[in-house]
Amino acid sequence: MDVVKIKGGIPLSGTVQIEGSKNASLPIFAATLLTDEPCIINNVPDLSDVRYMTEILEHLGAEIEQLGKNSWKIVAKNITSHAPYEIVRKMRASICLLGPLIARLRKAKISLPGGCVIGHRPIDLHLKGLSKLNCDIEISKGYIIADGKNIRGRDLFLGGRHGSTVTGTANLVMAATLTPGVTQIESASCEPEIIDLCNFLKAMGADIEGIGAHHLKITGVDKLHGCQYDVISDRIEAGSMIIAGIITRGNLCIKGANLHHLRAFVDKLEEAGINITCPENGQIIVDGTNINRNPVDIITLPYPGFPTDLQAQMCSLLSLTPGLSIITERIYPNRFMHVPELVRMGADISIEGNSAIINGKEKLSGSPVMASDLRASFALILAGLASEGETWVQRIYHIDRGYEKIDQKLNSLGANIVRMSDKEMPPEVLY
Ligand code: EPZ
Repeated sequence: MDVVKIKGGIPLSGTVQIEGSKNASLPIFAATLLTDEPCIINNVPDLSDVRYMTEILEHLGAEIEQLGKNSWKIVAKNITSHAPYEIVRKMRASICLLGPLIARLRKAKISLPGGCVIGHRPIDLHLKGLSKLNCDIEISKGYIIADGKNIRGRDLFLGGRHGSTVTGTANLVMAATLTPGVTQIESASCEPEIIDLCNFLKAMGADIEGIGAHHLKITGVDKLHGCQYDVISDRIEAGSMIIAGIITRGNLCIKGANLHHLRAFVDKLEEAGINITCPENGQIIVDGTNINRNPVDIITLPYPGFPTDLQAQMCSLLSLTPGLSIITERIYPNRFMHVPELVRMGADISIEGNSAIINGKEKLSGSPVMASDLRASFALILAGLASEGETWVQRIYHIDRGYEKIDQKLNSLGANIVRMSDKEMPPEVLY
């Protein structure tokens, strides 16, 4: 397994391009199963999760062709309905195959997704929604077995104990596009990634109204056709890079991002005394120098609230922001695997229920730490970039799932990050 060694204390500077959105690309790839015609999808990030999704689609019978680093052609002409545990277990987002398979084939057999360190990831709302559309759903031997021969449109409520469900909304919208009748979804997610999926489906000929709102109306059509589509930029990568510029007290120009997708995040930065400027369309200027940052309180919520996928990264920033900050995690109450690792680096954080109480400090010190999941990995890299000395982040494969060549990108901004095999780590680092 790979590790990265980070020499901290270097202010980042320069220009960085944001890639396409992982969390828009994955459901859009699943949506290509809804037609037997070719779909060409551009601005797709070059990530292990995207490659996992292409492997699953190929296993189902789709023809996959990579046209370029960030461009794919998918033709789901003759597909089967069985997605086995062996490939589904690699990536939770495979659950997004359920809706399109039921819509196209009127049946699906998909392994239940495996566990996840950020917390319990149930799919009860997905299954409840499909049952409301008159699908027969059975759970047997670790599989979801769905029979959609009598599927028909109707009104349904998709809200759960933590609010709306992103991939649950994706599944129900995709299922409804080829379902006879009208489906109205109340408490749908309106994340930019869901808006992007709906726009992709409309480009395929789907009839969807209310895109961007919590109420969606889908009128089933007989067939969808292929299309060419450019995925939106990745708002979480953009937010992560903005924090990188701030925490290292550097100067960054971030290109290709859409700040409208980060309103709650930018609002919190302004409250912390950090101003982000946008001189030209798509360009974001981050000036992290000479800022006396204020501590802030954050609560993660469904969009347009503060995104849970930027919570860990903000935890690192607030660990180096003197004063008392509180982060309350309303989406995944246990999503604090990064905290013990930050504490190893000298952070003063305590966990009270689903809140992290952060007593921000002037300095952290580089240490060997362990990545546990995608966003926690970036949080540890951020802390390493801003700490004195060397930080070794182990199990760095987590970060490759959601950030394209992140060590190279950060090094192009002046960081000093070396990726190596964990076998090359000097023994004294761990003893
Ligand atoms: C999507 O996951 C994202 N993943 C996650 O990003 C993101 O953190 C999450 O949405 C919340 O924004 C993808 O889009 C591939 P949810 P998803 O269903 O759809 C509960 C990353 O780092 N819930 O919106 O799985 C659930 O437990 C990843 O890129 C139910 O109770 O999340 C959670 O508390 C991590 N029942 C809340 O809803 C259900 O049936 C939100 O989950 C479904 C969800």
